[in-house]
Amino acid sequence: MDTLERGTLINEGKTKKIFAVEGDPAHVIVEYKNTITAFDDPSFTKEFATKAKYSNITTSRVFEMLNAKGIPTSYVRQLSDTEFLSLACTMIPLEVVVRRYAFGSYLKRRPEFAVAEGEPPHRFDPPVVEFFLKTTKGGLIDEDGTVLAEGLDPQKGEEDPFIENPREGTWRLMHSKTPGEEPAAFLNRTVDAERVLKGATINEMESAIVRTLETLEAFFEMHDFKLVDLKIEFGRTIDNRVVISDVIDNDSWRLRDQNWNDVSKQSFRDGEEMSQIEDKYARVAALMETSNI
Ligand SMILES: Nc1ncnc2c1ncn2[C@@H]1O[C@H](COP(=O)(O)OP(=O)(O)OP(=O)(O)O)[C@@H](O)[C@H]1O
Ligand SMILES: [Mg+2]
Repeated sequence: MDTLERGTLINEGKTKKIFAVEGDPAHVIVEYKNTITAFDDPSFTKEFATKAKYSNITTSRVFEMLNAKGIPTSYVRQLSDTEFLSLACTMIPLEVVVRRYAFGSYLKRRPEFAVAEGEPPHRFDPPVVEFFLKTTKGGLIDEDGTVLAEGLDPQKGEEDPFIENPREGTWRLMHSKTPGEEPAAFLNRTVDAERVLKGATINEMESAIVRTLETLEAFFEMHDFKLVDLKIEFGRTIDNRVVISDVIDNDSWRLRDQNWNDVSKQSFRDGEEMSQIEDKYARVAALMETSNI
């Protein structure tokens, strides 16, 4: 594996490029770009010069911690400042979220969990796991061209809908930021679970993400940081294993210091100065480098 040769560009997204490995269909090279994005809105995309490097450090150390715990991931090893080697995956189009504290879209759906300003947020024990369908331009199309969902309006925040009943065979899609009692919450669309899951189970993904949260929060707690929540994606490897894939970096979670000040991507969403955001990404990357696996 030491003569690893970069093959063709397989996929390019907003924050990463995926390359084939010459002569090795089981692996891909993931290369970070310097972009930082928010709200699924291209006009909101910005850059800073160290973003790829800090994200690559964070993701690599996180996945090394998970691999050491025996949690299945697609990560193999860091290759350079901005690249890592991963198992090639067919991605499962879900955003799987685990929450230790009630924040963000959870509070929009469940406003009864909001607390008064200055109060600590509501803490979940056990943590809450939620599944969102990962849609693009208001829809989801299978590899074989089958339309699984369509006509969701990104302008109305209907993208990446909340799956109300992930353990059932036919999923009901709900607006991710509207209380479930309100008529506007009902997107009046269903999706056949099996077509999305392709054999993966809700139980195995739930168990993997809870173990991930517990592993990372134990590390962050030692350094007086609070892991509020976390988003991950799963993939299926060519030998048919369901693993945590894509990346887990400072864009994937809400991470707060002891005073509940954000040190993760929330500060970018909130419109903070780029130099301050860069400092936060640097701080988190430096912290991850102390993980010593
Ligand atoms: N190990 C892997 N094998 C195959 N594809 C991968 C792997 N890791 C990540 N990907 C995919 O690479 C693509 C590029 O990543 P990026 O996150 O930049 O895309 P994006 O613009 O956010 O779009 P998306 O909404 O699909 O994530 C994504 O579709 C992601 O799912
Ligand atoms: Mg992505």
